[in-house]
Amino acid sequence: MDIRIFPSAESASHSLARRIARLIDFKRSEGKAAVLGLATGKSPLFLYAELVRMHREEGLSFGNVVTFNLDEYHGIGREDPRSYWSFMHRSLFDLVDIPPENVHMPEGMIFREEIDAFCHGYEEKIRTAGGIDLQILGIGRTGHIGFNEPGAGRDSRTNLVRLDELTRSDASREFGGMENVPLNAITMGCGTILEARSIALMAWGEGKADVVAAAFGGEVSDRVPASYLQEHPAAAVYLDERAAILVGRGSRGKESCFEG
Ligand code: F6R
Repeated sequence: MDIRIFPSAESASHSLARRIARLIDFKRSEGKAAVLGLATGKSPLFLYAELVRMHREEGLSFGNVVTFNLDEYHGIGREDPRSYWSFMHRSLFDLVDIPPENVHMPEGMIFREEIDAFCHGYEEKIRTAGGIDLQILGIGRTGHIGFNEPGAGRDSRTNLVRLDELTRSDASREFGGMENVPLNAITMGCGTILEARSIALMAWGEGKADVVAAAFGGEVSDRVPASYLQEHPAAAVYLDERAAILVGRGSRGKESCFEG
């Protein structure tokens, strides 16, 4: 497993931001779009802030970037400040020059009977875009990637899932109480995620140390869906020192070149 340990979440995020900038520029030089899979939550906040800074101060353009977000709460509308749609626009999309039509996110306000068609359509859009060049991930304390909770199959596709109670409790502060946290979400499946040509998972702080060790220091198991990344040919795990205390030391803060 390619595990990269950095002194801080900021330094790790800056390294990943530079990698993304190289990918965007490389794809532009080929006249192509860079297709990014994106995550929400606390883990990517430094990454998005750095990408915004690079856009403002270094002229990094998102004109040739196409994005697909991992997930969205079911029953939460786009305008709701707690929606992932709002989060992504606040943290990145409204602050850079990405064409709005290049942004794709699962739709939270959707009737049950429309969900299958929506999920098939989402997968089709990823295929039409040529597949995901680089998928950004966080990891939940349950071991989830996207919202693929323990038990999710390696080949699962974009679908409606039930959120684990630990995941709901971790979200309860944003929702002003557990009773307000949605029960379900639409998420890319593990199979969808693993089809990305490269993957970068971020985890910060001692609160993630146990799950990081379970995912990347142990066996591959559906009890910890993030462990499927061990079988991906180009998955890298970006950790700060506190998240890494229980896993074996990998290369320390190594800069990567853009793979493929
Ligand atoms: C978010 C997502 C989740 C989070 C994970 C970690 O789009 O898919 O898997 O990445 O729950 O969340 P944070 O970063 O808030 O600890």
